[in-house]
Amino acid sequence: MPNAGSHPGARTSGEQMNEIRVWDLPVRVFHWALVLLVTTSWITAQTGFDEIHEWSGYSVLTLVVFRILWGLFGSENARFSRFLTPPAVAWDHLKATSTRTAPHYDTHNPAGGWMVIALLLMLLLQAGTGLFSSDDILFEGPFAAAVSSQWSEWAKNIHARSFNIMLALVAVHVLAVGLHELHGERLIKAMWFGSKRSDQAAAAQRPLWLAAIVLALAIAAVWGLLSLAPPVSAGF
Ligand code: HEM
Ligand code: HEM
Repeated sequence: MPNAGSHPGARTSGEQMNEIRVWDLPVRVFHWALVLLVTTSWITAQTGFDEIHEWSGYSVLTLVVFRILWGLFGSENARFSRFLTPPAVAWDHLKATSTRTAPHYDTHNPAGGWMVIALLLMLLLQAGTGLFSSDDILFEGPFAAAVSSQWSEWAKNIHARSFNIMLALVAVHVLAVGLHELHGERLIKAMWFGSKRSDQAAAAQRPLWLAAIVLALAIAAVWGLLSLAPPVSAGF
């Protein structure tokens, strides 16, 4: 049996199911903006729209910083402490899924919680290495000139390879969401409209003004980081 009791988001029985708000607006806007911007980063990398690639990359970085802060100070269901479990619990959940005995969750299930962390870390790595990458012609990240060409080359290689790893993770993520949908759990509807059917009481939501402050902090952090970059060399 999955250790559902140790996960605060696990639903207990099928009694008295109500439509409750599970994802606040900031998490939903974060998610769909992320999908749009990662797609933009991918397309612009293939088509050579360097400036758009650069700005969509900075936006992804800002979103990830925002989500990390919101995972610490945001609404209850958005908090890492609400959906991160010891790996053994995630493993039990996967085993229970294969025998169709896994409980439903209002927030991310224990395995999904670790997938969220993996995706956020890969996005950080992707945007972080982009800052040091260069195509050796006309396009370079703001810190490429601040490090040796060997380091920049190394960052560029990771930037290219980690993208493939991220794509694989996204494929598993979308497949997992699709499987839940096939079994009647309306996860996509919940990530779009915010609500799910549940027998639990709705978790507390933080006000939107707090999300606006956290977003402003994330923008300021990325802006501050970029302002440390050396001026663009006249050679380009
Ligand atoms: C670039 C592609 C994608 C990335 C990087 C991505 C990333 C993420 C992340 C980081 C979360 C956690 C949300 C949070 O707690 O803030 C999440 C959740 C979610 N994503 Fe995606 N996602 C992608 C594409 C998609 C697509 C195409 C769909 C729809 C089929 C989708 C459906 C969902 C759903 C339903 C959840 C909530 C899962 C749950 O209830 O546990 N995602 N995604
Ligand atoms: C998280 C968002 C990002 C994604 C998904 C992404 C994705 C990609 C991909 C797929 C490539 C092509 C790699 C190859 O096959 O050669 C690429 C190249 C590149 N990206 Fe990004 N990138 C992101 C963020 C950034 C950022 C923030 C910068 C900094 C300005 C950046 C700078 C570059 C540069 C300079 C190249 C060319 C490197 C080369 O020629 O291989 N990227 N990016």
